[in-house]
Amino acid sequence: MDDIATLSETEAAAELERLAAEIAHHNRLYHDQDAPEISDADYDALVRRNLALEAAFPHLIRADSPSRQVGSIPSGPLAKVRHARPMLSLDNAFSDEEVTDFVDRVRRFLRLGEEEPVVLTAEPKIDGLSCSLRYEGRKLVQAATRGDGQVGEDVTPNVAFVSDIPQTLPDSAPDLFEIRGEVYMAKADFAALNARLLAEAREAGDESKARQFANPRNAAAGSLRQKDANVTATRPLRFIVHGWGEYSELPAETQTGVMDAIESWGFAPSTHRRKCADAAEALDQYRAIERLRSDLPFDIDGVVYKVDRLDWQERLGQVARAPRWAIAHKFPPQQAETTLERIDIQVGRTGKLTPVARLTPVTVGGVVVTNATLHNADEIERLGVRPGDRIRLQRAGDVIPQIVANLTRDEPRAPWVFPQVCPECGSAAERELGEVDYRCTGGLICPAQRVERLRHFVSRHALDIEGLGITSIESFFHDKLLETPADIFRLSKDQLLKRERWAELSATNLINAIDAKRTPPLDRFLFALGIRHVGEVTARDLARRYGSMDAFLAMINSAIEQREAMVPAVGEPDGKFATRQAKELVAIIDTQQVGPEVAQALIDFFAEPHNRDAVDDLLAQVEVQPVVFETRASKVSGKTVVFTGKLETMSRDEAKAQAERLGAKAAGSVSAKTDLVVAGPGAGSKLKQAAALDIPVIDEAGWAAIVAEANA
Ligand code: IVH
Repeated sequence: MDDIATLSETEAAAELERLAAEIAHHNRLYHDQDAPEISDADYDALVRRNLALEAAFPHLIRADSPSRQVGSIPSGPLAKVRHARPMLSLDNAFSDEEVTDFVDRVRRFLRLGEEEPVVLTAEPKIDGLSCSLRYEGRKLVQAATRGDGQVGEDVTPNVAFVSDIPQTLPDSAPDLFEIRGEVYMAKADFAALNARLLAEAREAGDESKARQFANPRNAAAGSLRQKDANVTATRPLRFIVHGWGEYSELPAETQTGVMDAIESWGFAPSTHRRKCADAAEALDQYRAIERLRSDLPFDIDGVVYKVDRLDWQERLGQVARAPRWAIAHKFPPQQAETTLERIDIQVGRTGKLTPVARLTPVTVGGVVVTNATLHNADEIERLGVRPGDRIRLQRAGDVIPQIVANLTRDEPRAPWVFPQVCPECGSAAERELGEVDYRCTGGLICPAQRVERLRHFVSRHALDIEGLGITSIESFFHDKLLETPADIFRLSKDQLLKRERWAELSATNLINAIDAKRTPPLDRFLFALGIRHVGEVTARDLARRYGSMDAFLAMINSAIEQREAMVPAVGEPDGKFATRQAKELVAIIDTQQVGPEVAQALIDFFAEPHNRDAVDDLLAQVEVQPVVFETRASKVSGKTVVFTGKLETMSRDEAKAQAERLGAKAAGSVSAKTDLVVAGPGAGSKLKQAAALDIPVIDEAGWAAIVAEANA
C-alpha cells in the first residue's frame, strides 16, 4: 500500500468509489447467493485496501462505504427481522504483529497501566453463517440470520431442525436472552449431503439436475435459508455459540463466564475456546488451533480473540461495523507444491477461453487438487509458467485453487503460447484490443457455446419457446438431435416419442410450442441470435431502423464489404486504425444504440461463415416478420427533424426516440432535406444553417407540445 501516499484526492476518491461497488458486489454473491467468486483472501485484500485509503483520506469516506456495512441487505423470499441489537462483524488480523497491535490499541483506549493484564479468549472462527436466537420466557421465539447486521431473515421454523439448538432454556436462564452463534455443516455431513443429492437426482433420471454445494458454508446457508423448513429438516446442520445479543440479565462478568453459563443451558461447547493471560498466550492458542485445523470436524478460517472483561467490552464499544474488543486472526491460505503437467483451454458460454492448469494431484488443506485456474494469457505471462514447471499452489476458502509462484524450471522449455484456434471448434481465437481474454469466434458452431446459445435462443425474451428447458436441450444436443437453432424447427413428434420420459401429450405440446414460433418478429429474432453485445434494446433499435431481415442483411453485407476494403493509412498505428474503422462502421449501421463495440461484434458475427450458414439454415425454417413500430400521426410524420443545443427535460436519445414514434426521422445534421430544427440553449452552427436555409426552428417546449398533441 506504499502507493497511497502518492495518490491525488481525485484518484483516491475514484478508487474508493470502485472499491465500494466491488465489495458490495462480492457481498451480494457471498451473502445472498451463497456463491462467492473470489477467495476470502482476495476479498480481505479489497476490504483492507478500502480501510487503508479511508485512513489516509478520512474526508473522502463515502456514505455507502463498505466499512460502514456488514454483509449485504438480504433479499429473497424469507421475512425480514430487525435485530434488537445489531449483529456485528469482525476486523481481521493477518500477522502476530497485527494481534499485538490490537492489544496495544485496547490498552491505549482503556488507558491501562503497563502492568495491567489484558485477558483474552481465543476460539476457532467457524466458517458458517451467524444466527441470532431470541428466547423469551426461556422459549425460543425467533431465529434470524445476520443479513446486513441490522435486518436479517426469519428462520424460526428452520432452526427447529438444527441439532444443538434447544427450543427451551432451563429455569436458571434469564427471562430474555438472545444467543448468537454460527450455524454450520460438518465436513463429513457436507460430503454425504452432496453424495445424497447426486444419488437422488440419478434415481430421478437426471443427474445433471443435481444440486451440488461448493463447500460446507454454502451448504449450511443454502439449507438454513429455506422457505420450506421441511427441506432444512433433511439437512444435517449444527450450531456453536460465540456470543449474545439483547438480554434481561447477564449470568457473569466475563466473556468466559457468560459462555460457560450458556453452555450449561444445553448448547454445544466450543471445545477449543481458551482463556489467555496475554497476547503471547493467545498466539500460542492460535498455533495450536491451526495445527488441529485439518482434523477438526468443521471448516474454520482463523481464530477469534475477545477481551474477556465485559465492562471493558462495554467501554471499548464499536467502530462502524466491528467491535473494538474483538478481532479475527485469519489463517494464511493453504499452499502446496506440485508439477504443472499441461495447460488446457476451457471454452465459456460466450466463447471466453480460460486456460486451466492440469496438475500432478496434491493435497492442500485436506483436499486433493488436480486443477487450478490461470485466468488468462497475461496471468500465465506474469507467473512465467510453462508445462513441466514446479509450481506453488494456494487454496483459499472455497474458490478454485490458484497458482501463486513458479518455483524452479529445471530444464529450458519453450514458453507456452496461447492457442490461436478454439480447441472445441477450430475457429479463430481472438483477443480484442484492450481486452485480457481471448475468445472463440466460432459462435454458433462451437459446441461449448452452442448449448448456451440454444438455451438463449428459446429463452423468454428471445423466441420464448415453452417446454424446451435446459435439461432437454442438453440431452437433445448430446444425442445430436439438436445442434443449431434451425434443428429446433426440424424436431418431430416421432423423434420425441422415441425418447425416455416423453409421452404423447408432452411431445404434442412441445411441437405446438415450436410451431407457434415460426414467424418471429425481427427484433426478437436478432436478439435470439445471441450476438455478443446485442441485447434486447440494441436488437429493437436495429429492427426499428431496418424494418425487415432483408434490409438488415443488405446493410450487414455492405458493411462487411466496406470493412474488408478499409486499410490503414500510411504510418497509421493499429490502435488509431481500429478506432477509425469502428467509427466508420457505426456510421454505416446508423442507429442510435450501436456504438463501436457493438458494430464490430455485429459484423464479426455475420462475417464468420459458420454463423452465416447457421443463420441461413434458420431462415429456411422461419419467416422473420418485418417490424412496424407503432407510430402516431403527428405534425412531424414523414418529416426530418434535427435536435441541437442542450435539451433540458430529456436526453438526446429520448428526443430522437420520440421523433421516431411520431413517424419522423431524426437526423444529425442540417441540410436542405431538414424540415424542422429543435434548438436548445447553446445551439450554434446548426441554428445558423437553419436560418440560412429558411428552416423553421422551435424550442424544447414547442417540441413537447407537438409530442403532447400526438399523444392526446
Ligand atoms: S464473534 C461481535 N466469534 O465471523 C462479534 N464470530 O467475520 C461477533 N464467526 O459475524 C462475532 N466464528 O458470524 C465470533 N468464534 C466466533 C466466530 C464468529 C465465526 C463469524 C460470525 C461473524 C463473522 C465475522
